[in-house]
This record gives sequence, structure tokens and C-alpha cells, in this order.
Amino acid sequence: MITIQHPEQMQAKAIELRQQGKRLVLVPTMGFLHEGHLSLMRIARQRGDVIITSIFVNPSQFGPQEDLEAYPRDFEQDEGLCRNEGVDILFYPGIETMYLPDVSVYVDETLLSRGLCGLTRPTHFRGVLTIVAKLFNICLPHAAVFGEKDAQQLRLLRRMVRDLNFPVEMVSGPIVRESDGLAMSTRNKYLTDNERREALCLRHSLDLAEECYAGGERDVSTILDAMQGVITGSSSGVIDYLAAVDDENLEAIDTIDRPALIALAVRFGEARLLDNTVLGL
Ligand code: PAJ
Repeated sequence: MITIQHPEQMQAKAIELRQQGKRLVLVPTMGFLHEGHLSLMRIARQRGDVIITSIFVNPSQFGPQEDLEAYPRDFEQDEGLCRNEGVDILFYPGIETMYLPDVSVYVDETLLSRGLCGLTRPTHFRGVLTIVAKLFNICLPHAAVFGEKDAQQLRLLRRMVRDLNFPVEMVSGPIVRESDGLAMSTRNKYLTDNERREALCLRHSLDLAEECYAGGERDVSTILDAMQGVITGSSSGVIDYLAAVDDENLEAIDTIDRPALIALAVRFGEARLLDNTVLGL
């Protein structure tokens, strides 16, 4: 495995590998890697010849009151994990090489980014799309792998690739969970023991939604009410949103008569946790 820190060097290496006929697959991350990230590297391995993992805690996707400073980092541990997974290139750029002081161009999405996480994090997706567009231009991957845990992010990135004609195949990997069902997340580190126990209600509420759907329930408000009951009844979590939306365009729906994304964000103390499932596929 080689580690590259400079975008120009990374781009030159990518051009060289492409000229040799190699198929490059990128797994973008913000580091502090866990099994969820590693699962994407394994998917990447099956999809190409050269796996590139990027580690960059991207300031532009954090709001002014958010956890940019506190976001956990452990480069040495991440490096070891990448090496074990057979990553070929670790791209680990410094902030100053990724954002020049007078940066003035960003990628904005105007429809899918409005609801769900976009309601409380109005500049978040602009930051995500901009950094991923930059990573695509720097690493020149044939394919890129993203997790289904960040459902809105994944759909927005697919939209960006479609609308801006990026020649990148978008691949997704399923949500990886702890043995008790909590979706793995870097931000689980912020949970106290009690919050960690209570956070299981997220998975339980999604299980209930799946059971309701399997039992023939199609009314969104009935399903969401039942989910809300599980969360508020068994935890101190503060619901940021709990929503059922069209799986493709993320518009709110009343009835599950097409594939529906059931997505939630709930705050436990310092941590804002996301989880989701898709019904009606
Ligand atoms: P980060 O939160 O580090 O996640 C990197 C990738 O891992 C994302 O595609 C995310 O969806 C996926 N992932 C996280 N937890 C997962 C889990 N439990 N199961 C499966 N996949 C999981 O998402 C970001 O970073 C950033 O927004 C990024 C795309 C890198 C842009 O900065």
C-alpha cells in the first residue's frame, strides 16, 4: 500500500494506472474506520484492480455549530486497517491542498437535498457533493463505493453523477450493524453507556415498520406513529426526523405504493444517529 498526500501526485498516479489498463475503485471516507467502511473496501476489491481509499475529514460538510473539531481521528489505526484490507492507495490529503483560501466553486443540488438531513444541516450536502466531485477528479476512479447507511447522501451522489455526467459507476453496500443491531457509525463513539443501550430503539422501530409492511399496512402515518412510539417510549432520544419518502426522488408520500425509504435521525446527547430501511422494493 502506498500513501499519497498531494492531490496532484494522486491524479498523476491515477492517470498512470489508467494508461496501464487498470480499473480503479474509490472508497471515500472521513477515517476512524470501522467494519462498515471495511465492508465497502471488500466490495471495491471485487469491482476492480486498484482500490483507492481516501481519508479526509471534510470541513465544508460540517456546519458552524457541528463536531468538526471533535470528530474522531486515528490515522495510524486507519492505515493498518486499510493495509489489512488490501487497499492499494491511501489518499490522505491535507486541508490546505484540498481547499485553497479563495475557493469559490461548489456543487449544489436543489431538490433531493432539501428534506431529511438537509432540513437541519442546510449546507451539509453542498460540502459532500463538492468533496466527492473533487475526489472523483483527483482519483479518476472507474467506480466508487458508498454505504446505504447514509441513504440521502447516496441518492444525492447518484444524482450528481447523472446530472454532471461523471463517468463513474456508483456501487452501494448494505448497512453494517453491531451484533445487537445498532448501525455502525463513527459517531457512536459519542454515546454514553446508557445512550448506547437506548439507541437500539432505532433498529427496533425500523423492524416494526418492516413488520407492519409485511402484515399489509400501507398507510405512512400509521407506520410512522408506531415507530415514533417505539423511540419515544423506550429512550430519551430526540427525534430530528422520522420520514417515509419516495425512494428515488425523496418526496414525502402518504401511502407505500412504490419503493419507499423509511429514514430517521435521532439525537442522543452529543450524537445524531441515522438509520433507514427501504420498503416495497
Ligand atoms: P464516512 O461517514 O466516513 O463514511 C464513509 C462511507 O462509509 C460512506 O459511504 C458511508 O455511507 C459508509 N458507511 C458508514 N457507516 C456504514 C455502515 N454502518 N455500513 C455501511 N456503510 C457505512 O460519508 C462520509 O464519510 C462522507 O460524507 C464522505 C462521503 C466521505 C464525503 O466526505
